Amino acid sequence: MQWLQYTTEGMWTAPKSVPPAIDLGEFEVREYQSGDGPKLFRAIEESRDAILPWMIWCLTDHLKVEDSIFYVQRFVRDQGREDVTDIPMGIFEKRSGELVGATGLHDIKARSQQAEIGYWLHPRVHGQGLMTRVATALLTQAFTSQDAGGYGLRRVVILPSTRNEPSVKVCERLGLHREGILRQERYLGLPKENPIGYLDMCIYAALRDEWLNR
Ligand SMILES: CC(C)(COP(=O)(O)OP(=O)(O)OC[C@H]1O[C@@H](n2cnc3c(N)ncnc32)[C@H](O)[C@@H]1OP(=O)(O)O)[C@@H](O)C(=O)NCCC(=O)NCCS
Repeated sequence: MQWLQYTTEGMWTAPKSVPPAIDLGEFEVREYQSGDGPKLFRAIEESRDAILPWMIWCLTDHLKVEDSIFYVQRFVRDQGREDVTDIPMGIFEKRSGELVGATGLHDIKARSQQAEIGYWLHPRVHGQGLMTRVATALLTQAFTSQDAGGYGLRRVVILPSTRNEPSVKVCERLGLHREGILRQERYLGLPKENPIGYLDMCIYAALRDEWLNR
């Protein structure tokens, strides 16, 4: 049936094996492995105040170490599945083995071969340009073909709030194309007594050919 062929043509599927870790010298970025849960929990505990209000899940998720262990195990279980829509990754300090932040390819849209990169860092490594280095390498891996150790995506977006100055600066420094503003796109119910309300989000994007030939 021709229409059936049309509906699956060009659809993205996840790599069959986990792509290699990204080596950034003192740091490495990789998909989670069994055993990373407690490290993830520790980093979130120590970063919760600093990464709120932009990471609103901090209020409801990873409240106990078991939550983070379960979160990691769920993704490890799904590694190798073709239809994943979320590939979270940790940023590890090689010397200590500790997790100092997280990133990943989220909200993957198979039909348009598109994903969103999200990120946060432990405050002890803020302000050193680390996230720009992480995101540069992750964008390259996201666009590299699966045969060559990448994820084979075609378009990647980053959506910082217009008020999130450090994150907007990361996107600008990456040289991404600012495509516009998504008005009142996300609700921010903080602080509780006087919530900020709906936030405008910038949409920054990179396309595979543009990024790999920049
Ligand atoms: C966004 C984040 C990952 C940036 O990482 P980083 O590696 O510290 O970023 P950089 O060191 O490249 O700093 C980015 C820029 O923001 C500036 N900056 C840092 N903290 C700032 C602050 N509180 N207010 C304004 N600017 C700030 C830095 O000076 C730098 O600007 P410069 O290029 O002019 O020097 C980090 O701030 C973070 O984890 N924030 C909380 C979570 C978050 O907001 N995630 C993004 C959601 S879209």
